[in-house]
Amino acid sequence: MKLSDIKSSEAELQDYYAQLQSQHITPAWIGGGITREPKSKAVPWVWHWRDLRPQAMRAAQLVGTEQAERRVLRLTNPQLPGLSASNTMVANIQIVMPGEIARAHRHSGSALRLIIEGKGGYTVVNGARLPMAPGDLVLTPNWTWHDHANDTDGPMIWLDGLDTPLVRMLEAGFYEEYYKETQTIGEGASSSFARYGDGGLRPAWEAAPATRYSPLWHYPMSQARAALERLAAEDSGSPFDGVILEYTNPVTGGPAMPTIACFIQMLRAGERTQTHRSVCCTNYHVIEGRGHSIVGGTRLDWEDKDVFTVPTWTFREHVNESDRPAFLFSFTDAPVMKALDLYREETKAG
Ligand SMILES: [Fe+2]
Repeated sequence: MKLSDIKSSEAELQDYYAQLQSQHITPAWIGGGITREPKSKAVPWVWHWRDLRPQAMRAAQLVGTEQAERRVLRLTNPQLPGLSASNTMVANIQIVMPGEIARAHRHSGSALRLIIEGKGGYTVVNGARLPMAPGDLVLTPNWTWHDHANDTDGPMIWLDGLDTPLVRMLEAGFYEEYYKETQTIGEGASSSFARYGDGGLRPAWEAAPATRYSPLWHYPMSQARAALERLAAEDSGSPFDGVILEYTNPVTGGPAMPTIACFIQMLRAGERTQTHRSVCCTNYHVIEGRGHSIVGGTRLDWEDKDVFTVPTWTFREHVNESDRPAFLFSFTDAPVMKALDLYREETKAG
């Protein structure tokens, strides 16, 4: 047995390819297909708060929540024009002004909110009222009803993270509007936090929820900050990420949602991490702090409330060059990669 040495003239081949094309068939041996390693179309990028906030305020002047189902600015990766910040996930800025609501709906894409600015306001998820304070993480998982309201006297602005590009690629998107503008807030409206908000403790008389997403939908910043500071006093953390904590599903210990994992990390004053990469795309939000990350050789300078994106399989390192701790929130599609046995990590040699 050996490799065959059949050869054809260019004219014969072109004639054959033209026939195939007319029959909607493609010869797989020319171009495309398998790559030696992932190469994202997306590029490392940072969106600065100094640009985002004025544009969000301008949107609030120009567009009402009657007109826009959600008043959202989509951060668009320069190499994914018009689409999303990263390959499988969007990172968007949403603004709700005093007295406004964003009406109730649900969709099969899963969403998270990381609150950036506001004095309160709230999201209602399946009848549960979840408070929204700066730095808080709020989940509105797959097919949960959700509406937002701002009953304060200042704007509410948050980062929206959703898996909609992935859901669209899988052609699995469903969407439904609620029968009225807002949900009625139910009895025991904060039961999600009351039941699961203590992490290591949960109601012993209840069976585990049937859903794969976390039954805890509100993770306060006050709790996350205290946990990071407590741990930082005991442990040097990850060489690649500093002290980093995952927001887990308190029942399974797994990711917050099947398609998106969420993290918060503390980079201590002057900390510089080692370099690594992984098969997942990651979007970061700077809760507070100032520093830079080197992502695929590109330096991304960031400060309070900026957003930046790291494409899949791209080396990254983080530097906190300030004299105060930096707190970064991040979300990734790593649960998808792990569920499909596609996840890998690599440290930079040398
Ligand atoms: Fe939504």
